[in-house]
Amino acid sequence: MNSSPNHIIPREVIDDIRDGNDIVEVISELGIPLKPAGKDYKALCPFHSEKTPSFTVSTEKQIFNCFGCNTGGNVISFLQKHEGKSFREAIEWLAERIGASLPGRDEKSVQRSRKRLELQDLNRFAMAYFHKQLLTPTVGGRALAYLKNRGIKDKVIQLFQLGYTKPERRDLVKAATQTGFSIQQLVDVGLIKNEERGPTDRFRGRVIFPILDERGIAVGFGGRALSNELLPKYLNSPTTPLYDKSKILYNLHNARLAIQKTGTSILVEGYLDAIMLYQAGVENVVASLGTSLNESHASLLRRFATEVIIVYDGDSAGFQATLRGLHQLLKEGLRVRIVLLPPGEDPDLFVRNRGVDAFKALLNTAINLIEFQIQRAVQQDALRQVGVKAQAVKEISLTLSNVKSQVELTEYIKYTARELDIDKTVLWSELRHLGIKAARPVHPSRNSVSPDKKKNLIPRESIEWQLIEALIQCPDLISEAKEHLDHRDFTHPELTKVAQMLWEASRFENGIDIQYLIDTSVDEKIRGIISNATLRKTVPPNLKARVDGCLKKLKQFLLWDLERTVRSAVLTQGHNSIDMLAELVELSNRRRQFAP
Ligand code: CTP
Ligand code: MN
Repeated sequence: MNSSPNHIIPREVIDDIRDGNDIVEVISELGIPLKPAGKDYKALCPFHSEKTPSFTVSTEKQIFNCFGCNTGGNVISFLQKHEGKSFREAIEWLAERIGASLPGRDEKSVQRSRKRLELQDLNRFAMAYFHKQLLTPTVGGRALAYLKNRGIKDKVIQLFQLGYTKPERRDLVKAATQTGFSIQQLVDVGLIKNEERGPTDRFRGRVIFPILDERGIAVGFGGRALSNELLPKYLNSPTTPLYDKSKILYNLHNARLAIQKTGTSILVEGYLDAIMLYQAGVENVVASLGTSLNESHASLLRRFATEVIIVYDGDSAGFQATLRGLHQLLKEGLRVRIVLLPPGEDPDLFVRNRGVDAFKALLNTAINLIEFQIQRAVQQDALRQVGVKAQAVKEISLTLSNVKSQVELTEYIKYTARELDIDKTVLWSELRHLGIKAARPVHPSRNSVSPDKKKNLIPRESIEWQLIEALIQCPDLISEAKEHLDHRDFTHPELTKVAQMLWEASRFENGIDIQYLIDTSVDEKIRGIISNATLRKTVPPNLKARVDGCLKKLKQFLLWDLERTVRSAVLTQGHNSIDMLAELVELSNRRRQFAP
């Protein structure tokens, strides 16, 4: 196994790091709502769409497998597949998660991650410090009154760790350096600025909104002026090694459970919109913090949600920018619906003025992005002009080209054609230009091995699969199988590869190390086969009998092959010798020995 993708990191190190990260914990932290099911955990598969959970994670085996799409592997493979990481990146991520160090990791990246951890500490300190200031009446009294006046309850102030900064120039500088943080760290994390007069706090005299990432780590801050006259109204952390506003959704940490439960995420613009909705019991709310939606936001949301409802003030500049970003959501396979608020209102005002039930009723009126675009086009009287209509068709087609589900696409096309009063073929041709083809019945790929898709295997491959499954479940039987069969005797390409791995592994070890086999499989189909075989529930009562049966049948196939070869040699080359004929008789006799 010299071609292993991880020859740079020693096997023992990989073993330690992998074993130190519980697969159930990691998968849950990444947003998959695993539910206990017997000894295992189950969830709807994040890799294909399904209605009943076939995604299975085993604590005992530390392996996951989806019996629907046959994606599987260990905790490293999961990160590769779900987060799009390379093998090495996955290892690094897992190492950082448990605070382990990686040998051979270049000094720079070791330093980088140490620095990040220190900056996280600093942010945690600052968050607590600001929060304490807010709750100290002589300091934060006015700010606290402001928040209360806006309707925020104590419990929520505490949950969101809202804070306050003194107007002084060097308040945080002093407090943080006294605690042992350096000026450089304060600058790096964006809490102070180096000015001519010396280091100066960035946030002064402001209400502070800590910005947490989806894991709950403080990565940045927003500060609101205490009155609308003071500008800017909001001041945010600059981009730092921890904070990139295009990759953060405010409140995702609090909201993720509710989002997973409902499948829906509500997207609003501002800090206070998110906080007020959350307080009112709409817990699946996140805020884009005034930035336009991008790819990172979309893939972040996709980890937790299947649908996003955008609740914006239709007149706001933010909304126009957001509309442009919505394709990203569709591209990620998210359904998108939109609700527009009355001009000049935001969710915060809306809930305060009309109550949360009115807000929920409003949510129910959300229409999907395509309908929304069409409605907007239809509402323009100018639609009667050819040019305007052509433009609308172009825009809607662009949106449609991002719809993932063929069923939905076909429905939308019908709807669009009706509403815009055009022929469906116009839309199809527009979509063809964009590289989208009409739906065709999907044929499952014959090569994807899965017991549930056994129909896709020809009988011989299906026996090969049964044998591999049995051998993985009972590795003691490998040596016996090896005596009768070479891995090259397999015909299915991936099963041949797995057989080769098993044959090789059994040469060196007592038993086989499934985790290692997974780590050294470069092909994800092979990881799927191994994890599937490992987690299959239908273990035949007598694996030995099954292995013997499979071996017999495969032997028969092999002898058939041989017979065919000899026979065709006889026919084509005219070797009518007695020897040949004797060999044929011998072969078919042997084959009959293996007949069941
Ligand atoms: N925003 C910002 N900088 C600004 C204005 C706005 O970063 N100068 C971001 C903030 O995240 C803000 C969001 O955009 O929460 C929405 O802006 P806006 O509607 O102006 O503010 P509100 O959230 O309504 O703030 P408030 O209710 O406190 O007036
Ligand atoms: Mn507001």
